[in-house]
Amino acid sequence: MTRNKAVPSLAVLLSLVVLAACLVAPAWAVKHENFKTCEQSGFCKRNRAFADRASAEGSSWSSPYELDPATLSFQDGQLSGMLVKNVSEHEKVQLPLTIAFLESGAARLVVDEERRLKGDIETRHGSKINKKRYDEAEKWVIVGGLEGSKTATLNAQSETGFTNVAYGPNGNLQAIIRHSPFEIEFLRDGESQVQLNKQGYLNMEHWRPKLENSESESAEDESTWWEENFGSNTDSKPRGPESVGLDITFPGFSHVFGIPEHADSLSLRETRGGPGNHENPYRMYNSDVFEYELDSPMTLYGSIPFMQAHRKGSSVGVFWLNAAETWVDIVKKKASSNPLSMSASEKVDTHTHWISEAGRMDLFVFLGPTPQDLSKTYGELTGYTQLPQHFAIAYHQCRWNYVTDEDVKEVDAKFDKYQIPYDVIWLDLEYTDDRKYFTWDPLTFPNPKGMQEKLDASQRKLVVLIDPHIKNKNDYFVSQELTSKGLAVLNKDGEVYDGWCWPGSSNWVDCFNPAAVPWWNSLHKFDKFKGSMPNLFIWNDMNEPSVFNGPETTMPKDNIHYGNWEHRDVHNINGLTLVNATYQAMLERKKGELRRPFVLTRSYFAGSQRTSAMWTGDNQATWGHLAASLPMVLNNGIAGFPFAGADVGGFFHNPEKELLARWYQAGIWYPFFRAHAHIDTRRREPYLISEPYRTIITQAIRLRYQLLPAWYTAFHQASVNGTPIVRPQYYVFPEDEEGFAIDDQLYLGDTGLLAKPVVQENTFTTDIYIADDEKYYDYFDYTIYQGAGKRHTVPAPAEKIPLLIQGGHIIPRRDRPRRSSTLMRWDPYTLVITLNKDSEAEGTLYVDDGETFDYERGGYIHRRFRYQDSVLSSEDIATKGAKTAEYSKTMSGVSVERLIVIDPPTSWKSKMSVTVMEDGAKTATIAPLEYHEQKDGKASYAVVKSPNVGIGKTWRIEF
Ligand code: NOJ
Repeated sequence: MTRNKAVPSLAVLLSLVVLAACLVAPAWAVKHENFKTCEQSGFCKRNRAFADRASAEGSSWSSPYELDPATLSFQDGQLSGMLVKNVSEHEKVQLPLTIAFLESGAARLVVDEERRLKGDIETRHGSKINKKRYDEAEKWVIVGGLEGSKTATLNAQSETGFTNVAYGPNGNLQAIIRHSPFEIEFLRDGESQVQLNKQGYLNMEHWRPKLENSESESAEDESTWWEENFGSNTDSKPRGPESVGLDITFPGFSHVFGIPEHADSLSLRETRGGPGNHENPYRMYNSDVFEYELDSPMTLYGSIPFMQAHRKGSSVGVFWLNAAETWVDIVKKKASSNPLSMSASEKVDTHTHWISEAGRMDLFVFLGPTPQDLSKTYGELTGYTQLPQHFAIAYHQCRWNYVTDEDVKEVDAKFDKYQIPYDVIWLDLEYTDDRKYFTWDPLTFPNPKGMQEKLDASQRKLVVLIDPHIKNKNDYFVSQELTSKGLAVLNKDGEVYDGWCWPGSSNWVDCFNPAAVPWWNSLHKFDKFKGSMPNLFIWNDMNEPSVFNGPETTMPKDNIHYGNWEHRDVHNINGLTLVNATYQAMLERKKGELRRPFVLTRSYFAGSQRTSAMWTGDNQATWGHLAASLPMVLNNGIAGFPFAGADVGGFFHNPEKELLARWYQAGIWYPFFRAHAHIDTRRREPYLISEPYRTIITQAIRLRYQLLPAWYTAFHQASVNGTPIVRPQYYVFPEDEEGFAIDDQLYLGDTGLLAKPVVQENTFTTDIYIADDEKYYDYFDYTIYQGAGKRHTVPAPAEKIPLLIQGGHIIPRRDRPRRSSTLMRWDPYTLVITLNKDSEAEGTLYVDDGETFDYERGGYIHRRFRYQDSVLSSEDIATKGAKTAEYSKTMSGVSVERLIVIDPPTSWKSKMSVTVMEDGAKTATIAPLEYHEQKDGKASYAVVKSPNVGIGKTWRIEF
């Protein structure tokens, strides 16, 4: 949340006490009392207690769930049957189960509750809410990858008490399903990878009527079954207890990653206490957490319940498709296979325990074996990241707030004056008339069109904030339409829910309602959002949703959405539904032409990557927050939502110049690169910062622009196979155990660029970990670093970004500085080449118009560059389509203007030229080569000027 900090008490004495306290501890800290711990969350506490009981009873514990073999059937790769919960000798609960084995190699387990499926339950307080367990998450999240396996085979062995299924594209995967107690073990090549209910924590709280105390014989703690209090809120829980819990074990895996969003290390910690561990499970309940803390499993604004377990030789994953509040406990134990061994290399099992408040159990299991396989298969299900407009991957300038349209124009002009490139300027909340979205403040923004035209002159864009809370005011057309059309979220009594947010009393659009989408669409049209132009894009903030006077700063869980679902059922998807609607609205704003929308969201869920970028919300101008941003962005990447960034400079407070400069040097490695600041902070646009920092920041931004071709290529890869845009160490070197926990250095796509931003004050060297025995070259002066499995000390004076290139790569870049990235559209390319041990190199380049969807019809250039046997070549790897010729024509004048070969063979000393052969050219041409000798650990390099080969052409250059 972003409200100003409370003014200290009026009493002078008290103020002094507060001040003294501030001197010993930072004044800013999360208000823990506003957010639940597991102990304060009824269902989390109950499931942990259940797990404790199971653990305490050890081998005498028997999970009360069994699969009735008589009910099993197998068709089209799907096993169906009835899971039975033995509540008591007389009471058995029927839980229909399916396990679908998918063509992709993923398996999906779904468990529902028969009585609720049939609507055979009573809700309390006369509530009309849906009686089913929420089963529509997939409608919002899953977009493909559900084809059943054609080759999966069943091997039922009822007499042994097991059912086996062999599956997977290579038939090397296996699920061994134990009937009683119910357990599943997933194997790859005969080796156990993922185990479900091995610990016996499976728990589906079945529906039951509320009995009066005297009637109830239950030994269970019912105190949070029927209603639950937190702060001043009472949750009426009309369906009683309904949580789902399951333990998932990763045998032999000591690292688990994923389940954003948390401000924590990439490799997730244990959560059941002990030194260095957390006390609480990782929580996923999208929330506006004011002044969030670091190294914490507390929930933040978004959630992606996708976890990967990694060890040498194997990456596996699980995706827990549940939109309700969810907690995940993590415990690591010495592998059960050899409990007595104390050797240092002892294997570890990671036990996880997943707990959701409501909904059915819906779990996908992925058996890898590589991190890339997980990205791909998970992406097939939830969608790959959108290929954004090109401007969106350049630099964004934001603050709360640019205060007038003249202010915007002045900032724009200053960037030009100081020759600092930027593409997008942002307007926060205050551009609106009285915080009514889709309007402009008539006093401060009298001429929005003039402002947007000015930006457009240098091909720049404007992004404005539109939040989901609508000011509750009779004379506001959006408010009138929202309520008269019945498109608002309702409270538990079925009336329009009213809460408090930026505009004061507000109502919330319910984008679960299909009718809300065309309406939301209409609001973004130029005739409704008057004064907006085609170069305006949207920022959806506060969409957790943030409600200042709501429980845990959000909506009451018993609020009601379209379909009579409780807010409890859908909370974590809520933000995604708004963004989907905004995306739709933005698609067709330019008449007659579909353009890729750009939407930034704060709240997100699995699937949000299809429509938006995200940022890590309200961080702080501290070195700790700068450091935390790297694992957070990396984690989002491996969780399938790589278009991620953090507020550069820190949102709250004023960064020192050194911190700000280092933040820019780090921020250029965020896929989403935006500076932002709180309304109470001092202005800090790069041109305002005194030297040498202004130049340092300018150079950092220019480096981002120089490498935009490599960035866009990495975005394209993410959009077709789910690979993260910036990648952590373990992802690039999955066999090197030393690197698994490293989360402070990153790789840009597969360019071989390895960056290690400085995130400590007053620090002028850094250690970069190198996994392999290739040579790595300093990006700027070509100093050579070599030595596998070691940290190498790299100088990092204030102006320097520690950045290496691994040998064996060809990196495309554009070296001519321009005001905005769109103005670089026709600029020539430079290719930077580093040779590997075999004197070879490879790289790719993807280019399209950066704006439309023509690339879906072949309107793009996709090249593979290779250096082999002293020949550099460019090969076409695109698939042709209706738009190929047209696009190629527009790019026909764009060429390669320079080749830089780092560390070439010394025989090149005497080489004066290279021979250039372009397809279609009648004769070969000669281009001059200059050899630059360097000493003292710096590699020599050669420059070929003006080879002038077309970027979209096939060619060979002989050295
Ligand atoms: C909260 C967002 O996190 C922040 O970035 C924004 O400036 C404020 N809301 C005001 O709109």
